[in-house]
Amino acid sequence: MNETIKTIHRLRSIHKFSNKEISNSDLKIILEAAVCAANASARQSYSIIVVEDRTILETSHFYGANKALVFCVDYNRIADIAKYLNHPIESGNIIRFITGSTDTILAAQTAAIAAQSLNIDSLFTNSLHRANITEIYKLLNLPDKYCFPLITLCLGYSETEPTRKKGRLRNSGIIHHGKYQKLTTEELKKLVNDYDNEEKQLGLISSEKWSEMGFKHYLDWFYTKWPTLAMNKSKVEEFHKILRKVGFLTSIPI
Ligand SMILES: Cc1cc2nc3c(=O)[nH]c(=O)nc-3n(C[C@H](O)[C@H](O)[C@H](O)COP(=O)(O)O)c2cc1C
Repeated sequence: MNETIKTIHRLRSIHKFSNKEISNSDLKIILEAAVCAANASARQSYSIIVVEDRTILETSHFYGANKALVFCVDYNRIADIAKYLNHPIESGNIIRFITGSTDTILAAQTAAIAAQSLNIDSLFTNSLHRANITEIYKLLNLPDKYCFPLITLCLGYSETEPTRKKGRLRNSGIIHHGKYQKLTTEELKKLVNDYDNEEKQLGLISSEKWSEMGFKHYLDWFYTKWPTLAMNKSKVEEFHKILRKVGFLTSIPI
């Protein structure tokens, strides 16, 4: 493995950060790496909010990280330049949102890799989506049009090394050579057993022990017990509302 591949393999989520400060020079390296990511039409349709205020970092949104980077899909800079040059402002729509999200996520993952290469640990979180999103716009002074906080990268040094490294699926169902192939019943059965296999560490690390709770399989616990945003109807409604308000979800096709 070369150093880049080793760095990528070292990535893991950290939930408890120490007090050790990330230096300004390292932060600068991380941010400069993030903006090297590929982006559609040379738009860089994102903004990165660097959170350094300790009182904000200590809230549950940011897991006590030393610094946090909130990656937002954002077309304001582009719209403001258009306005400045007296060009019509491009309207928001779902395609802009998807393309902007792609730019944003590529920058975020690049930041995580750059941080790890400097031995700075990280945690991706969508905690801001669990909060009252309107309050988050106020907290971060986000523009109320064409901007959406997509993902947060918490950064810092781990207080203790996690004892377990999460596993990943690698083969069937993930990588499709040539064309997409749905899993066979045999392959589905194998995956269910793989999730049950503690050594593979594929499932969530949870304080609830599925096997002690009478579940036959980890995935039986997961499908019935794990709360997801998607299952929360009022959260889905809040997302629709906010994406409509900021101009990324339009009812009339453009
Ligand atoms: C979109 C996204 C949202 C996440 N949100 C949270 C979160 O809110 N809280 C958390 O503890 N971990 C969160 N994670 C981290 C994942 O739980 C973690 O990456 C996963 O458990 C795998 O662990 P590993 O990164 O250590 O391999 C998130 C990761 C992603 C990509």
